[in-house]
Amino acid sequence: MSNNLLKGKRGIIFGALDENSIAWITAERVHEEGGSFVLSNAPVAMRMGQINELAKKTNSQVIAADATSLEDLENLVSESMKILGGKLDFILHSIGMSINVRKGRAYTDQKYDWTQKGTDVSAMSFHKVMQTLYKQDAMNEWGSIVALTYMAAQRVFPDYNDMADNKAYLESIARSFGYFFGKDKKVRVNTISQSPTPTTAGMGVKGFDSFINYAEKMSPLGNATALDCANYTITLFSDLTKRVTLQNLYNDGGFSNMGVSDAIIDDISE
Ligand SMILES: NC(=O)c1ccc[n+]([C@@H]2O[C@H](COP(=O)([O-])OP(=O)(O)OC[C@H]3O[C@@H](n4cnc5c(N)ncnc54)[C@H](O)[C@@H]3O)[C@@H](O)[C@H]2O)c1
Repeated sequence: MSNNLLKGKRGIIFGALDENSIAWITAERVHEEGGSFVLSNAPVAMRMGQINELAKKTNSQVIAADATSLEDLENLVSESMKILGGKLDFILHSIGMSINVRKGRAYTDQKYDWTQKGTDVSAMSFHKVMQTLYKQDAMNEWGSIVALTYMAAQRVFPDYNDMADNKAYLESIARSFGYFFGKDKKVRVNTISQSPTPTTAGMGVKGFDSFINYAEKMSPLGNATALDCANYTITLFSDLTKRVTLQNLYNDGGFSNMGVSDAIIDDISE
């Protein structure tokens, strides 16, 4: 269903790895809503080749960029403006990675060079993306920048490991940079805190199946899907949310305000 909410708008979508990726589904929805964009991912992710299918489907071009490399980001932003024919209106940062999580290192036994790499990819990259856009004056007034996060930034989920700290940092960057982007360029910056979602990054978390079932049973509306997240992002890219900024917005079926649900009580009752 299209309402042409993004007609004439241009942007960059980071993080579409395969058809389960939240960024992939968001790209499809942005296309349906009339937006045009450049797709970007790390060079290593490109080698899997699937992003080219998405590019074809959405009539978009792909530019490789390691989101930790300022040089790559500078090239991506300037080339995107050339390809799309002007300044940008929306950015989706849908990037996350923890080597400690991937290799099963406990939170209490981190390998710090892996921790640093994860922080650089998952959080500092958001600052780097925004600083590049800001310095190149690449965003149109009333543009919108969104990054994806998880509630482990506020509450303890032991197996989310160092990604919890990365998400707390990411959300703080959204507020701090959002101030300058708002004041100087009239651009919104928000994070969406999404339910557990079966994607490559999500399923890398230990015990993901139990994690997603628990959230489903706790949430009065059930878990938000990747499509729900894409649709929420569309509203934030549209002109209908012009003065929503510096917010961490929960797209989680109500999970974040729950204490316990009947379904969980039933499960644990003798
Ligand atoms: N899946 C979940 O349960 C869930 C829940 C809440 C938030 N999120 C967040 O949503 C975002 C998207 O993740 P997803 O679940 O769609 O998984 P995904 O694995 O499909 O996407 C993660 C992306 O990050 C990219 N990436 C990794 N290193 C990079 C680098 N150096 N430069 C550029 N890109 C790089 C990967 O190539 C991949 O495309 C992440 O920020 C994730 O933390 C996911």
